[in-house]
Amino acid sequence: MKNILITGGAGFIGSHVVRLFVKKYPEYHCVNLDKLTYAGNLANLSDIENYPNYTFIKGDITDGPFVQNLFSEWDFDGVIHLAAESHVDRSISNPMEFIMTNIVGTVNLLNASLATWKSNCDGKRFYHISTDEVYGSLGEEGKFLETTPYDPRSPYSASKASSDHLVRAYSHTFSLPVIISNCSNNYGPYQFPEKLIPLFIHNIRNRKPLPVYGKGANIRDWLYVEDHAKAIDLLFHNGKLGETYNIGGNNEWKNIDLIHKLCDIMDQRLNRQKGESAQLITYVKDRAGHDLRYAIDATKIHNELGWEPTVKFTEGFEATVDWYLSNEEWLNAVTSGEYQKYYEQQYVKR
Ligand code: NAD
Ligand code: TYD
Repeated sequence: MKNILITGGAGFIGSHVVRLFVKKYPEYHCVNLDKLTYAGNLANLSDIENYPNYTFIKGDITDGPFVQNLFSEWDFDGVIHLAAESHVDRSISNPMEFIMTNIVGTVNLLNASLATWKSNCDGKRFYHISTDEVYGSLGEEGKFLETTPYDPRSPYSASKASSDHLVRAYSHTFSLPVIISNCSNNYGPYQFPEKLIPLFIHNIRNRKPLPVYGKGANIRDWLYVEDHAKAIDLLFHNGKLGETYNIGGNNEWKNIDLIHKLCDIMDQRLNRQKGESAQLITYVKDRAGHDLRYAIDATKIHNELGWEPTVKFTEGFEATVDWYLSNEEWLNAVTSGEYQKYYEQQYVKR
């Protein structure tokens, strides 16, 4: 039996990773460490919470002694680190949370792994999940490669870049066995409705305005979240230690085109007239420092490990819309309370 620590497992991507590992690897005991911030929701894992090879622990990765004690107690064989503050807009209004969780929290996990494994690193690995946003913003041409120089431009991406550098530094300086992956924008079930797709589904359903930043001309490369989880599984087991891998959907969409596609699907699903949902589109002040375009070249993971996205975008996108529409309870629960206060601050003042 191996003990695997998955941080941030109650969040969007983390919950898909925990589900995949708990179901696929009964020989692993998966410990999900999560602070349950506004973005963490144990309802995301209600289907697997009683599995014997799963344990949830509520805790904060910024608390060094707590993290060290947890490692002493569980003697982890592997770490898959997803816990983070993840929303760019929140990083603009409150950068310090991002510095604490994304940088200090990552260093606490690195230190605890090092202290636990230093006598014998055989078979151990520290897998750090990162984002394509560390590479900065592309013009109309080109894609991010693993060798693209870092150029983060938001407090979120700067904090993730910093954590990536620290993970690499622990590999070079202390020979900690690490792997890093940088992924493009994910979509799918259980994403917190502050991010574009679930926020707009929620607003269309409730006939609320769709706040499009700037001219809606920014481009993102969208990947279905389960394809990301499968890539994480592959890299955790077969990725080369010390290496970085890009993961992406090869699926670029200009925001406004994606939003129109969403509006069309929502019109059909809600039996509204064609064009009705699109009338909710409202252009608002652009995000400060808004990166124009992200696009990933995922050739390396494809050539080395045969990974490629399996879910076609139209299918994944429609399935995602259907999931949110048939999980109204989940959506209503997470859009109340704390999130409402944030929503007021973010949009009502615009
Ligand atoms: P999320 O915001 O949905 O979830 C983050 C989770 O981390 C939450 O459950 C939260 O409670 C937990 N957390 C936050 N601070 C914590 C702390 N101090 N201690 C313990 N737990 C804490 O994020 P997500 O979208 O699932 O992203 C997961 C990871 O993947 C992040 O590292 C993010 O940078 C990266 N990533 C995300 C995307 C994307 O499109 N969402 C793309 C590429 C990479
Ligand atoms: P988001 O889901 O926040 O992901 P990221 O900023 O990490 O790529 O945003 C995706 C794109 O949608 C991004 O270009 C910003 C834009 N956007 C809006 O136009 N309006 C919104 O309300 C949100 C949340 C995002």
